[in-house]
Amino acid sequence: MADQTDDQHQAVDAYARELTAFADALHVLHVDCGSPSYREIATAARAAGRVSLSSSAISEAISGKRLPSLDFTLELVRQLAKNDQGVLDQWRERWKRVKLHQRQVGAHRKRSGTRSKIGGAPAQLLPEGGQGVLSAAHLEAERILKNAQAQAESVIEKARIQADEMTASATQMLLDATERGTIHVVAQLKLRENCRIALVGPPGSGKGTQSPFLSKLLEVPVLHLGELFRDNIRGGTRLGHKARRHMERGELVPDEVTLGMLEARLQDRDTQHGFILDGIPRTLGQVEAVDKLLARTSEKIDAALNFEVGRDESFRRLVGRRICKNDSSHVAHIMYAAPQKDGICDICGGPLYLREDDSRNVIASRWDAWNVQSELVVKKYGSERRLVTISGTGTVSSVTERAISALNAYFG
Ligand code: AP5
Repeated sequence: MADQTDDQHQAVDAYARELTAFADALHVLHVDCGSPSYREIATAARAAGRVSLSSSAISEAISGKRLPSLDFTLELVRQLAKNDQGVLDQWRERWKRVKLHQRQVGAHRKRSGTRSKIGGAPAQLLPEGGQGVLSAAHLEAERILKNAQAQAESVIEKARIQADEMTASATQMLLDATERGTIHVVAQLKLRENCRIALVGPPGSGKGTQSPFLSKLLEVPVLHLGELFRDNIRGGTRLGHKARRHMERGELVPDEVTLGMLEARLQDRDTQHGFILDGIPRTLGQVEAVDKLLARTSEKIDAALNFEVGRDESFRRLVGRRICKNDSSHVAHIMYAAPQKDGICDICGGPLYLREDDSRNVIASRWDAWNVQSELVVKKYGSERRLVTISGTGTVSSVTERAISALNAYFG
């Protein structure tokens, strides 16, 4: 009985994960297509006269409240992806996978006598003899279901193995390319010692992705304000408590907290020969404060490296980003760098989670903060000739190479 309950829980968990991944993927597709309003989509579907899509049903599908029907899904995808047959086929397969999990949950519930999803006429209403027919029909249905599950699982397993192989070879190619780029540029970068660089750029522009590479090349540590805040929140400190309220709303954390944390981190010995600031300064006041802080030891920010990406690209990246609980530098993406096992970090096996401030509303507020306050920082560094701007789009390794070439050109 305990085993059966465990199996049932596992089936429910697996279904919940599949459904969330399905809704997340719909979400990314929606952003990919320029985030048309649900009403617009519903109107276009009505005009096409196939399946009716109401705004509320679209919202339920994208928020993962329930699995929509296959027809509904295909119509929604058709509206978003403009009838691309390849895309429709992918979604048909994706839907079948979630449906399979939903059926498994239904079968478990039925076996354990909890709420039945398979349904049928209530037993007490059947005429005599009907009970036997009904049981036989159920047994037959279960047998067919089991066969179908076994077949589907074997197809899925084969597809997974193929996908694993493709991912492994793509990862190797990326590592090779990064390694080649690293060897190519490292000698030149070593010429510039004691480098102090501030990474700037809107949310999701790739600051956190690029900083470990730059840190390795320049042999200086990364001081990531967002991470310092999150560490303090996890540790339950007073500063963490103060930061949390603002971060949840996508606002900037007040300077008294931010600058205090930076000042404390700059006391650490590893920052003596340079560092990379990730996420600070973000306001004109912070530019001034950081300059003052560094002037005490006759230092300054040598260059601000600005990554440019558009708003849509940023949303696409952030709603799909998943971060490892064990190590926040392990970052996956549900579409662009999907983990081999849903919800599990490929690097260390830790659980992956969605950052609290990566919901669409909070990302929009973070963009507001960027537009209103942080773009002025970019202008200021530009006017002081301390700015290096590059495009943050393209593969991760191509952005690293672009950053290195631009810094080399800047430092001459
Ligand atoms: P912070 O943690 O710094 O967040 P952010 O600046 O909004 O930046 P993100 O971490 O979201 O994005 P990123 O640019 O690092 O992109 P990433 O490389 O991860 O700050 C959080 C909050 O803390 C702020 O909102 C604020 O409240 C507070 N705060 C921080 N500093 C502060 C300050 N100075 N003052 C006051 N408050 C402050 O990439 C994103 C995704 O895209 C990933 O999934 C990645 O895999 C993917 N990706 C990256 N590059 C590529 C590529 N080339 N192609 C495809 N995908 C890519």
